[in-house]
Amino acid sequence: MTSIKKKPEEELELVVSPTDKNLPYLMRDEQFVNPVLARSARIVAERAKGSYIYDMNGDAYLDFASGIAVTNLGHCHPRVVQAVQEQVAKLMHTSVVTYHKNYIDLAEKLVEIAPGRLDSVFLANSGAEAVEGAIKLARYTSGRPAIVNFRGSFHGRTLLALALTSSKLYYREHYEPLPSGIYNSTYPYVYRSRFRNDPSACVAECLEYLDMLFHQFVHPEQVAAIIVEPIQGEGGYIVPPPGFLQGLRKVADQYGILLVIDEVQTGFARTGKMFACEHDGVEPDIMVCAKALASGLPLSAFISRKDITKDWTPGRHGSTFGGNPVACAAALATIAVLQEENLAERAAQLGKFIIEKLRKAAAGRKSIGDIRGRGLMIGIEFDDEKGEPSKDLAEAFAEKCLLNKLLVLTCGNRGQVVRLIPPLTLSDAEAEKACEILIKCMPA
Ligand SMILES: Cc1ncc(COP(=O)(O)O)c(C=O)c1O
Repeated sequence: MTSIKKKPEEELELVVSPTDKNLPYLMRDEQFVNPVLARSARIVAERAKGSYIYDMNGDAYLDFASGIAVTNLGHCHPRVVQAVQEQVAKLMHTSVVTYHKNYIDLAEKLVEIAPGRLDSVFLANSGAEAVEGAIKLARYTSGRPAIVNFRGSFHGRTLLALALTSSKLYYREHYEPLPSGIYNSTYPYVYRSRFRNDPSACVAECLEYLDMLFHQFVHPEQVAAIIVEPIQGEGGYIVPPPGFLQGLRKVADQYGILLVIDEVQTGFARTGKMFACEHDGVEPDIMVCAKALASGLPLSAFISRKDITKDWTPGRHGSTFGGNPVACAAALATIAVLQEENLAERAAQLGKFIIEKLRKAAAGRKSIGDIRGRGLMIGIEFDDEKGEPSKDLAEAFAEKCLLNKLLVLTCGNRGQVVRLIPPLTLSDAEAEKACEILIKCMPA
């Protein structure tokens, strides 16, 4: 493997093995690919199966990134592969020229599994596109202009989705002006708040802040939607304490605001329920999903209620590729496996196992400030010697894991969190093996 090592003076150095078969591809990538495209691990994936990715050398990496919470069934699940292969030979594309069966079947299935009364589906291609569609719908149906979002959120990289995003300045800076009419409220990041030992006080403060927003910045009757992640993903794997989402639901109902819940990263059994908002018993007015929906084929959705979509007349929103028959076939197979194999429960059980093991090993290590999560969405937050967020420690930990053939990702507003997002089909032995590596790589 060719790896990146840190020299004492903090410069990055490429440690090259001359026999590394990844290397020619890495060099050609540097020559031809736009440098804005970031990759976390300097390995070239050649194939993948189940919980493992194999590079050009044939080396196996245990995948605790899942293509950023996408391959919830593991890589190339046979049921998904078969569905895609059959569909690709039958019908690949229609766009909005004709109807097709898979779109209708998938819409019906999504209505069946979506929380509460959601019963009207629009399919798109990416998370950002679905977020934008949801906001367009909210503005159209309410006739109101403003949107409330939360600090630390990530909703995508297209300009409106980016305007809703503040997980890291790096994503936003140099792209101003961004679309306006967006008002930021605060998210209960308990660990970095002054209420570390009092989560409900942290929630109360955030809800008070939202109330102040309505007195100081925007009239609530001008607000079309509140958009929120039920667990902040890119922002640092931050699980809001009980009461926060319920509080937002109450505020939304009070002022006739639509509650848009972004389940792009949390959806499809990842957190131990099909959708994370179910943990709080909160029903969205519009729910956005993508990532794991089609096991890696590009597909996203926003799901709403007919009373919200009924006046959105044909053609006011659309997409050439959204709801492609092959992607829909992959999604139908994915949801069938999630349900038949009860993978939500498996995620809950494995998540508890991993968190317990890691917390035990981290006890007494000052540099590991917090280990948190829900199901198989787990964050490890690193502190420097002053207790401040430590990007360096998180990156060094991720790099050590990579050298031990375990793929993990970082997140958080300063890159201080390592996130663990394994497939929900992970075996007990694979979970044990990953924990061994993670514990071995922990700093003092
Ligand atoms: C919560 C959330 N919303 C939206 C997005 C954007 O999705 P995409 O990258 O498919 O546009 C992401 C991507 O990480 C996400 O985590």
